[in-house]
Amino acid sequence: MTERTIVITGASDGIGAAAAAMLSAQPDVRLVLVGRTASKIRAVAEPLGAEFHVCDYTSLDQVRALAATLAEKHPVIHVLANNAGGIFAPRTVTTDGYEMTFQVNHLAGLLLTELLMPSLLAGQATVIFTASLAAFQGNIDLADLGKEKGWTSFGAYGAGKLANIITARALQRRYPTREITAASFHPGAVATSFGARGGRLVKWLYESWLGQKVMLTAEQGADTLVWLATTTPGVDWRPGGYYVKRKLTAPPAQADSDAFGDRFLEASELLIR
Ligand SMILES: NC(=O)c1ccc[n+]([C@@H]2O[C@H](COP(=O)([O-])OP(=O)(O)OC[C@H]3O[C@@H](n4cnc5c(N)ncnc54)[C@H](OP(=O)(O)O)[C@@H]3O)[C@@H](O)[C@H]2O)c1
Repeated sequence: MTERTIVITGASDGIGAAAAAMLSAQPDVRLVLVGRTASKIRAVAEPLGAEFHVCDYTSLDQVRALAATLAEKHPVIHVLANNAGGIFAPRTVTTDGYEMTFQVNHLAGLLLTELLMPSLLAGQATVIFTASLAAFQGNIDLADLGKEKGWTSFGAYGAGKLANIITARALQRRYPTREITAASFHPGAVATSFGARGGRLVKWLYESWLGQKVMLTAEQGADTLVWLATTTPGVDWRPGGYYVKRKLTAPPAQADSDAFGDRFLEASELLIR
């Protein structure tokens, strides 16, 4: 069998690191792992014998540099898992001038995907977005993408994850299934480092004894990502779909509108040119 090149972002911890370990156990997989913190991504990648790269999504120039390196090394990519993300407080504006939660969860992954498009098309790739149920609490206002009015960490995170679901659907509409396929998924509430930067309430929820007891393990959270990455789009799952526990699930209302999705993708693209 031909070797499949699988790129996973946010692979230095939590769901991405678990997915990397699970996929490395499969035959004919070449893993390319991306993380923000050099020491963490090295610690995950080296035991797996995986290639790794460092990139901080709060800088779009770093994303452009990462994409250039990956495109040169990997003219054919079979899976891109856009998994880097999180909830961040307080409100911060990046050096690119965008609200950080929106940039890290949405703009940076979209930029990476679009810059890697020649490699993705060459591999008839599956492009996966780690979204969240939090998308149902999100709302996107095309006139205020950075939420200058009424910002909350939950609101910004919900909008970022809604953006992931919309992006998967909009990219799928733009590219026929035989060229690339895209999907988004909710991993569940997963006991990872996710809670660390989201403010006091999120930190408490994720780090409390009760929180740890009821949450999924990182491996359980990675299950749908690994399933999407290793099964056949159009046969095992619907291109453009939003998945929860491997099940096609109705997305939030804003993600259900194709016209809104196309407008949102175009508005996002204007920001990353
Ligand atoms: N845990 C949950 O309950 C849950 C639920 C729904 C959706 N999700 C989503 O699942 C994905 C993975 O989260 P997780 O739970 O595995 O959390 P995690 O353990 O905190 O892992 C997040 C990953 O994203 C990376 N990351 C964070 N900020 C970044 C930045 N500025 N630039 C580049 N990479 C950055 C982290 O790098 P570092 O290691 O350097 O921090 C890490 O590799 C996220 O998209 C999250 O929104 C999680």
